[in-house]
Amino acid sequence: MAMIAYGDADAAAFAGERHLGDDGLSAWRSAVGRFVRPGGRILDLGAGTGSWARSFRSWWPETEVVAVEPAVAMRDRAVFEPVVAGDAADIPLPDGSVDVVWMSTVIHHVPDLRAAAVEIRRVLAPGGVVLVRGVFRGRHQGINQFRFFREAVAVLDGYPSVDEVVDAGFTLVALESVSQVSAPSVRAAFDGLIREAHTPLQLISDEAYAAGVERMRIAADEETGPMIDVLDLLVLR
Ligand SMILES: C[S@@+](CC[C@H](N)C(=O)[O-])C[C@H]1O[C@@H](n2cnc3c(N)ncnc32)[C@H](O)[C@@H]1O
Repeated sequence: MAMIAYGDADAAAFAGERHLGDDGLSAWRSAVGRFVRPGGRILDLGAGTGSWARSFRSWWPETEVVAVEPAVAMRDRAVFEPVVAGDAADIPLPDGSVDVVWMSTVIHHVPDLRAAAVEIRRVLAPGGVVLVRGVFRGRHQGINQFRFFREAVAVLDGYPSVDEVVDAGFTLVALESVSQVSAPSVRAAFDGLIREAHTPLQLISDEAYAAGVERMRIAADEETGPMIDVLDLLVLR
């Protein structure tokens, strides 16, 4: 898969747009908090600029948070310290040392899911869980971006399905839907939109992108209230 390599421009765009506000984070605090224990360890795998790791440390100060990220450009912009080099198939941690592996919008970048499953299960402690946040092939319906940028739905053909992730070597615990406030309004999301911050928008044509921008502009004029996206949370062992 390896959808895009995060170089300087992508990392800067990501750091500029993709960090959720407190309203967006609260649903995830509840969803993840059920699996967190004091004295345990959370691994933020594919941590990007470390915004989740930062939130986890502030929400659960008695739990150790470790962040691993392959892209230098993302690590250089990290809002959490330390973010160490590594990837899903090469995690610099001992066997059985993690209670929660968190992967937020990472799974579609992993080139070899089977190798990743072996490595992730190696670091997982008995009873630990893997929490995969994001969008899977065929499951875009709750995400506003695909309502505006219809051509981006085809990009998801290259994303793994839920079954493919499970079959790579995990046991399915649950597939949950989490509603997050992604922006205070469609207008705010539109005004802050940075194409390079979104893999699906990078992988459509310029014409398709322009058409989506126009649909989103119209929605920004017409729709009121917060922009709420419904993302998947796949819980695995
Ligand atoms: C969309 S960003 C998400 C960053 C962060 N998890 C977040 O939600 O803010 C995807 C991240 O996955 C990382 N990534 C790409 N391939 C990876 C792999 N094989 N293993 C782990 N992370 C990977 C990228 O470098 C990038 O930082």
